[in-house]
Amino acid sequence: MAKVNRNYLKLPGSYLFSMIGERIRTYQKQHPDADIIRLGIGDVTQPIAPEIIRALHHAVDEMGNAETFRGYAPDLGYAFLRSVIAEKDYRDRNCEISEEEIFVSDGAKCDCGNIQEIFSADNRIAVCDPVYPVYVDSNVMAGRTGVYEPEAARFQDVIYLPCTKENGYVPLLPKEVPDLIYLCFPNNPTGAVMKKENLQEWVDYARKHGSVILYDAAYEAYISDPEIPHSIYECEGARECAIEFRSFSKTAGFTGLRLGFTVVPKDLKVEGTALWPLWARRHGTKYNGAPYIIQRAGEAVYSKEGRRQVREQIAYYMENARIIYDGLRSSGYEVSGGVNAPYIWLRTPEGMTSWEFFDVLLEQAGVVGTPGAGFGPGGENHFRLTAFGSRENTVEAVERIRKM
Ligand code: MLT
Repeated sequence: MAKVNRNYLKLPGSYLFSMIGERIRTYQKQHPDADIIRLGIGDVTQPIAPEIIRALHHAVDEMGNAETFRGYAPDLGYAFLRSVIAEKDYRDRNCEISEEEIFVSDGAKCDCGNIQEIFSADNRIAVCDPVYPVYVDSNVMAGRTGVYEPEAARFQDVIYLPCTKENGYVPLLPKEVPDLIYLCFPNNPTGAVMKKENLQEWVDYARKHGSVILYDAAYEAYISDPEIPHSIYECEGARECAIEFRSFSKTAGFTGLRLGFTVVPKDLKVEGTALWPLWARRHGTKYNGAPYIIQRAGEAVYSKEGRRQVREQIAYYMENARIIYDGLRSSGYEVSGGVNAPYIWLRTPEGMTSWEFFDVLLEQAGVVGTPGAGFGPGGENHFRLTAFGSRENTVEAVERIRKM
């Protein structure tokens, strides 16, 4: 008789952003004329930059010609993309990463969710609290956690690393040693960043204890402070203890195109076993590569003109972040983030729960954000707004919130 994976039954509710989508649909049915501004899920709104569109068109034409047509992509990505990533994202920043260590994929969310497969089921994970829900949910599905405790809003057997106003939303090294440590900086959802000396402490800790850091750097393109590291491989010894995830979604607006990559250094070993061949085996077996045309679009992101256009888009979103941050702060909200990251993190007013504030904001201002509690117990009484809206909507949303 077939049996289900009962670990799935431990998950309360649906995926955070599906749940929010459902709430909005219900509200819209009841209020068909409501003019809703969505600053909830971190989805981009600016069109793909012209240089990238040019590359896409060219690649599409190649697919229509027998001489230049391509079938399955190489498992780990086309060399033209892997080599430009290794050069521009890593070697230009003095990080020793080779093109062979780059695994191209259809996005960082999938890679962050899938990476746990190459680790034993009895590894203990540590996550920041609040945290991007994919890290926890994917480990719950794999049976690496205990049951969910509704009172505490936590899963048993997970080490939660509190990220609070007091510690600047940067976790302290845990006393109880985890096997796998998920870190995301610039942070989703708090918008906090980690200084290099801090990140170095985590790398040293992981090496000392034989832990592996799973470093999500999806928002690195939003860093403007030159002191903040873009990659964990800027830290000494990170090649021996860290895997890094990157995304084209937030860097170049690829949420609808789908492209990302994971870096697994060849020096990274667990119990004497290198992880690179395991991840390569997984890719080869379960994945047929990101589409050729999308990888060509990804390559164009690194061209001189592509980079210039993408930087302009990032500056546009960061101006939105400034508008939200300044607008809310000047009307008395306690806000953080939004300086080296496209997320603004705020404390809900008058001790409201984050879901209560979600409803109030939707009903009184017609603005959708993300309740902090959806990111873990540490997110309660907090709320996330994204800078990825259009300028017009961002300005209007801030005005409406100020008038509430
Ligand atoms: C978010 O809103 O947290 C992100 O857009 C979700 C994602 O990148 O998967």
